[in-house]
Amino acid sequence: MDGSIKKILITEEEIKEAEEKAGKILSTEYREKPLLLISLLKGAFIFLADICRYIDVPCRIDFMETKSYFGGTESSGSVEIIKDVRHDISKYHVVIVEDIIDTGRTLNEVIRMLKKRKPLSVKVVTLLDKPARRTVKLNADLSLFTIPDLFVVGYGMDYDGYYRNLPYIAELDL
Ligand code: IMP
Ligand code: MG
Repeated sequence: MDGSIKKILITEEEIKEAEEKAGKILSTEYREKPLLLISLLKGAFIFLADICRYIDVPCRIDFMETKSYFGGTESSGSVEIIKDVRHDISKYHVVIVEDIIDTGRTLNEVIRMLKKRKPLSVKVVTLLDKPARRTVKLNADLSLFTIPDLFVVGYGMDYDGYYRNLPYIAELDL
């Protein structure tokens, strides 16, 4: 396994505190609305599991996994859905739950694909935002932490499939 942990950037306690605040904001916003949380696998599985327990209004949960092919061409079709949601999203206000927005290209395509299915609305909540690396115009509606241009792991996020199980977010020494 290459790479080692350089330092802890965000502790478990800091994550919990931010999730509690975000959960309150979402609960207020979606109080009278049919809410569907869509977690983007695999990186966001822990964030979804934790933040949903700070949401105190009825909501449904679904999962989606994509594969990106950002090479030479950046036309549509650069993101393939390898696991799709099971819900008919036209009946719901969708909140996409994401681990980290880096270039923004994956999420940009996911939003484009989901909007074609005419959901009542689509918003994004992200655990981390790395705005320095953005290549498309895209902002999360709710972002828990903004980080500099570092490669991070833990709390669902991986390096070569490892480190997802760390309870905190750490910088990786590559
Ligand atoms: P984007 O399309 O460049 O915004 O990248 C999206 C995905 O790449 C994220 O949802 C993560 O799953 C992954 N990713 C981006 N930066 C990092 C990082 O620093 N650590 C781990 N995964 C990352
Ligand atoms: Mg992700």
